[in-house]
Amino acid sequence: MWLYLAALVGLYHLLRWYRERQVVSHLRDKYVFITGCDSGFGNLLARQLDLQGLRVLAACLTEKGAQQLRKQTSDRLETVILDVTKTESIAAATQWVKEHVGDRGLWGLVNNAGISIPTAPNEWLTKQDFMKILDVNLLGVIEVTLSLLPLVRKARGRVVNVSSVMGRISLFGGGYCVSKYGVEAFSDSLRRELSHFGVKVAMIEPGVFSTNITNMEVFSQSFRTAWDQASPEVKELYGETFVPTFLESLETLKPRWSKNLSLVTNCMEHALTACHPRTRYSCGWDAKLFYLPMSYMPTFLVDFMAYWSSPRPAQAL
Ligand SMILES: NC(=O)c1ccc[n+]([C@@H]2O[C@H](COP(=O)([O-])OP(=O)(O)OC[C@H]3O[C@@H](n4cnc5c(N)ncnc54)[C@H](OP(=O)(O)O)[C@@H]3O)[C@@H](O)[C@H]2O)c1
Repeated sequence: MWLYLAALVGLYHLLRWYRERQVVSHLRDKYVFITGCDSGFGNLLARQLDLQGLRVLAACLTEKGAQQLRKQTSDRLETVILDVTKTESIAAATQWVKEHVGDRGLWGLVNNAGISIPTAPNEWLTKQDFMKILDVNLLGVIEVTLSLLPLVRKARGRVVNVSSVMGRISLFGGGYCVSKYGVEAFSDSLRRELSHFGVKVAMIEPGVFSTNITNMEVFSQSFRTAWDQASPEVKELYGETFVPTFLESLETLKPRWSKNLSLVTNCMEHALTACHPRTRYSCGWDAKLFYLPMSYMPTFLVDFMAYWSSPRPAQAL
């Protein structure tokens, strides 16, 4: 009986492996628009797809980022400046994409742009702090998608939304996890709606990787700013030693953060080029072996693990 079961599982994986290896044809004629290409995953994906021969339309936040990317890529890659928090900027980028893709439509839209600060315990933050992250990571994704969707539908293409494993388990305060849970919810409803029109939607859920978003200097500075703006009552509850203790504990985790960004961009590439893309891609060993399994555990166990591994406020009961 166990032998039959093992054979069935083996057969399932073999079929899945074969199915996932099928690649769509005419990739060199396909246009892919990627947001947040100045650095990190977006930048690497733009270069990777350019090398594969796809027509990359790379959106950068700054002209400097765009210039640097153009220097490293072929003439086929083109750049545009896009701030995903600004409606006018999205409208201008959409018009630019429309002119480039013409009747072919847009094969791929990769919503990658994102920020991670301010992140701190919820009570230290203001509504504006939450809005700052939600504006880029969630409302930016929604507005860019709504704006480009007619072009993606025309190509019966793909929407690839960069979420995070923190969209499956919320382990710290502030707008980041909230925004990524939102990206998951948006992508789920979008996938069901767009399946009627031949458009596929995939979510990328990376673990922790060393990029600008996880830069410890920037994070520490923002964490201290949040502490400075906290009320005297909250400061008394947490105590002066909380900030250095928290930052030290984070610093000890840093060596474990992956530097291999292609673990993420390979998933993005698969979502764009495979005939049968996955709905969710879990990228990085920490996501696969730790955070994702943790997200399926009973809440009391996850709460205990989080409680046990993070510094305690001075006046914790
Ligand atoms: N690194 C990780 O551990 C990790 C884990 C899970 C998920 N992610 C997600 O992966 C995505 C890419 O992040 P990354 O790690 O590659 O970090 P990154 O290097 O900081 O890339 C983020 C990109 O977004 C751009 N950006 C920021 N605000 C923008 C705005 N208002 N409009 C348009 N572009 C904007 C940034 O431009 P500038 O460089 O000019 O600021 C940058 O190019 C994000 O959605 C992030 O949440 C990252």
